Amino acid sequence: MKIMHVDASARTRGSHSRELSAYFIDALRDLGSDIEIDRFDLAINPPRHFGALETAAVSIAEADHTPEMRAAIEPSDAIAARVLAADALVIGTPIYNFGMPSTLKAFFDHVSRNGKTFLADAKGMQGLLGAKKAAVLSSAGGAYSDGEMFEGLDCLTPHIRAILGFMGLTQVSFIAARPMMFAGPDAAQTSMKAAKDAANALARTWATA
Ligand SMILES: Cc1cc2nc3c(=O)[nH]c(=O)nc-3n(C[C@H](O)[C@H](O)[C@H](O)COP(=O)(O)O)c2cc1C
Repeated sequence: MKIMHVDASARTRGSHSRELSAYFIDALRDLGSDIEIDRFDLAINPPRHFGALETAAVSIAEADHTPEMRAAIEPSDAIAARVLAADALVIGTPIYNFGMPSTLKAFFDHVSRNGKTFLADAKGMQGLLGAKKAAVLSSAGGAYSDGEMFEGLDCLTPHIRAILGFMGLTQVSFIAARPMMFAGPDAAQTSMKAAKDAANALARTWATA
């Protein structure tokens, strides 16, 4: 199984979401899964934000691209090609300001491409990544369950579910370690342990699929 392993935390050390996504990959390996990793570290190689040239390039046929458009869209083509070549996505991400880090949003802007990862025309829309699966392993400072500090404010999960669903992914699993900051170290430790237990359980379903 070829896995694209994406991490979005700005912290390359001491990151809880990186710890969790690496734990999931290790759990898959420990279960004997034959996996090949395509690593994409968004803190080390942050994708460019979509600019005027990229936006213009995706709005017209490739045959009509100017040399500037072609150069601007080439990194986006390369990112989309890497996702297309993967069987599965494993994404480690923190919550920043109730949603995803801007680097991860930029990544999705490059991946979500008409004619490559989805088709949209007058007849309708169709995602093209249906055969792939994804695991999103996140961490957050606060707690989001009913009655807790940030109840109702998790914009990360529905946003990523919408983006991946739009591209056709239906097998998307979310595992969250939280609260990792605002409820003290004991709560953080308990949250990480529960998230790792969930990661082990998910790894077993992936390993036997
Ligand atoms: C810029 C920034 C914004 C944050 N915003 C939130 C937030 O909106 N909600 C929350 O629960 N935690 C927030 N946090 C806390 C992080 O989600 C938490 O520390 C998380 O574990 C960071 O992930 P990491 O350990 O992988 O770096 C924020 C942290 C930073 C640095």
